[in-house]
Amino acid sequence: MIDSHPGLYSRFSQHSSLLEDIRKAVNGEYGAIVCYERIAGMAPDAETRNRILEIRNDEIRHFQRFSQLYYRLSGIHPKPVLSEPCPAEYRAALRFAFQDEQETVDFYHEIADRAGHTDIGHAFRRAAADEQNHAVWFLSWLVSR
Ligand SMILES: [Fe+2]
Ligand SMILES: [Fe+2]
Repeated sequence: MIDSHPGLYSRFSQHSSLLEDIRKAVNGEYGAIVCYERIAGMAPDAETRNRILEIRNDEIRHFQRFSQLYYRLSGIHPKPVLSEPCPAEYRAALRFAFQDEQETVDFYHEIADRAGHTDIGHAFRRAAADEQNHAVWFLSWLVSR
C-alpha cells in the first residue's frame, strides 16, 4: 500500500522523525525543569537563585510550546519522561547544565533547519537562542567561584 506512494511514504517518515525529535525536546525540557529547581535550591545567593528560576521559567515555556506542537502534529498529548538525572552536587550540576544547554542549541537548530519556515521552525529557533543565553549564564557561574 505504502510502496505505491513513495512520495507520501518519504513525507510520512520525515514527519514521524520530526515528531520523534519534538518528543525528545519535550523530555529534555521536562528534565531541565526538574534539574533547575534542584540547582536553584543549592544556589549560593538570592541573585543567582532568582536567575536560575528565570531560566527555569523559560524551560517551562519551551515545554508548553513543544507539547502544543506535538499535540498539533499527532493528536496525542506527550507524556514527559525523565531521562538523565541531574547531579546532586552544585558545581557538578552547573557543569551538567552548561553542557546540556550547549548540546540543546545544536539539536534545536537541526530541528529548525528541517522544519524550515513553519511554526515548528520558528519555535525551535527562538528556543535555541534562549538555550544559548542559558549556557552563558551557567558558564559564568562555573568560572565565578
Ligand atoms: Fe529550553
Ligand atoms: Fe535552557
